[in-house]
Order: sequence, then C-alpha cells, then structure tokens
Amino acid sequence: MRIQVCADAAVACAEAAAIVIGAVRAKPDAVLGLATGRSPIGVYARMRQAYAAGEVSFRRATAVNLDEYAGLKADDPSSFAAFMRRELYAGVDFREAGIHIPDGMAADLAAECARYDGVLNAVGTRDVQVLGIGANGHIGFNEPGEKLSAGTHVVRLTEETRAANAADFPSLGEVPTHAVTMGVGDILKARTIVLVAFGPAKAEAIRSALRGPVATGCPGSLLQLHPDVRVFLDPEAARQLE
Ligand code: F6R
Repeated sequence: MRIQVCADAAVACAEAAAIVIGAVRAKPDAVLGLATGRSPIGVYARMRQAYAAGEVSFRRATAVNLDEYAGLKADDPSSFAAFMRRELYAGVDFREAGIHIPDGMAADLAAECARYDGVLNAVGTRDVQVLGIGANGHIGFNEPGEKLSAGTHVVRLTEETRAANAADFPSLGEVPTHAVTMGVGDILKARTIVLVAFGPAKAEAIRSALRGPVATGCPGSLLQLHPDVRVFLDPEAARQLE
C-alpha cells in the first residue's frame, strides 16, 4: 500500500486522476471501477479536463460503478446514475454501452445483483478501481458488520451513512434505506485500487482501514490484503496516521 499525503484535496485528486488517465492511455480498452460521493469529484473533473484537452479518450474504455440506491430511478437527481452523468459521463466520451451501474429500480433486486455480477465477469478484471471510504469505514456500500459479502448484494444502509448522504436529498427521510453494491470480494479483484479521502471526518476511518486489524468491523481494512492500493489523502484525513 502506498500512502501519499498531499497538500490538499485538489492535489490528491489530480494525482489519483493521473493513475486513471495513465491506465487508459496505456490501454484504451481499460476497465475502470468508479465510485460516487464527494471524494472523487475532483478526480472526475480532472478526467474531464484531460479529455477536453485531447490527452485521453474513454471511447474504448468500460466503466463499472460500485453501487446505486434501491428505489431511485436513474433520472432521479439524487441517484448515483445521475451523479455519474453530471460529474463524469456527460463530459467525456464513454460509449453508452461501456457504462454500467446497478439498477436500483429493478423489481427483483436479487436478480439484479446476479445480473450485475454477470456484468462484472463479462467486462473482465478492472484495471483501476476508484474508491472513497465512509466515516464508518465502508467501501462501496459494504457497511461494517459481522460478515462481508464477496459479490454484488443488497445492503441496508446504516443511519450514519444515510445521514452522511442526506445533503444529496430533499430531506433525511428521503434517503433510501437500502442499496445495491459490489461486494468487497469484487472490489479487491481490481488490479490497482486508488483510494481518496479528505477532511477530518475521515481521519478515524483512514486510521482503522490502513493501520487497524483486518476486520469486518472496518470494511476498508480489507484493502490491506490487496497488493496494489494507492491512497491519496489531505493532511486532515491523514492526521491519525503516524
Ligand atoms: C460511493 C461509495 C461510498 C463512498 C463513501 C464516501 O459509490 O461507494 O463508499 O465512497 O460513502 O462518500 P464521500 O466521498 O461522499 O464522503
């Protein structure tokens, strides 16, 4: 695991984006695993800039997103599908067929999980997986608990996670209670994992994920088992690391 403490979030996002962009330049049909949330917004901004400057094309690349809320339509502005369109897909040249995100509106969510695992198998090994981390240590929407799942599954979101994401909804009551997420086993299959985390609210999660025991109580700690994780932090997120 390589940990880089950057001057600020903007620098960290530019460094993280350079890995993604470099992977696609080296291999135009690269498979990218992508996260939503506030943390990677600067990564996606830099990817849009690089595309606009003609430095990279995503035309032959594939994107697979980590997760989606259950019960939100793709065109609901609070959905992760809408977030990805706003922050990345509308500003770069992925083919529509090269973009994958779980369908939170599927009538049969168990079948949707199986379909998404099929998509993950079909697109092949992710070259780079972009990750954020929750203040409670979740990665994707794999919440802390006694067990973790390998494959795509439906999760009940913790109240902490619902509250953390409430700003994206008209009110806390409208934050979905469930989501469909890639499993930790799926996440760990990526060749390279790029984790970004910023601000004091992430300091404890970063300490337990990077320095604590590998334990299901902190899903991010499973990243310690992966051979190529690059972590980009600002000083506040890094402040509990020695
Ligand atoms: C998003 C995701 C989550 C977020 C995490 C941090 O696809 O899977 O694990 O990365 O909740 O969210 P932010 O970046 O908003 O603090």
